[in-house]
Amino acid sequence: MNKKEVIERIETEIKNCKKCDLCKTRIKPITDGGNLDAEVMFIGEAPGYNEDLTGKAFIGKAGEILNKLLKSIDLPREDTYITSIVKCKPPYNNDPTDEHITACKPYIDRQISIIRPKVIVPLGRFACAFIFEKYGLKKERISEVHGKTYTVNSLFGCIKIIPQYHPSVACYNVNMMDTLLEDFKAVRHNI
Ligand code: URA
Ligand code: SF4
Repeated sequence: MNKKEVIERIETEIKNCKKCDLCKTRIKPITDGGNLDAEVMFIGEAPGYNEDLTGKAFIGKAGEILNKLLKSIDLPREDTYITSIVKCKPPYNNDPTDEHITACKPYIDRQISIIRPKVIVPLGRFACAFIFEKYGLKKERISEVHGKTYTVNSLFGCIKIIPQYHPSVACYNVNMMDTLLEDFKAVRHNI
């Protein structure tokens, strides 16, 4: 099977997945991540209202901010792969639980090993904690690690991890946009 076929198989499994209770309330899980040859992979938390309707990550308000951040570093969205650690929307915009994250983990693990990104950008504290644990990095608060670059080894070579605050923080706090713009420069420096 080639890369596209493997990814499509994972997407079909996600569409049919009933491994946690979020399957009961979701409309569409996140499947369409974008460019399968992406060097940079962005990983969010879980779908929100708009993502649930479409099955595509970061297309609502947080997505508009992510688009601005991508533009600021001249990185076309079509060149990236964008997904989330939890594929189905938690009800009432609750945070995903440990059970949801653990049940959904095999999908993101497989997506990373197929896409083989050079740079992984976890967005927000849940994705950052998940990626730090996956690659054996010391657990730290996002306020300590945002915008820094960590180099880790994986089965397919070295990966740069560049944690970021979740783009939605800029919806409520304009100063956070400046922090995000500054922190995203580290992504540009590593591609
Ligand atoms: N928040 C996320 O983490 N992902 C989305 O796709 C939308 C909001
Ligand atoms: Fe399956 Fe993940 Fe959706 Fe839970 S969140 S039902 S594990 S795809």
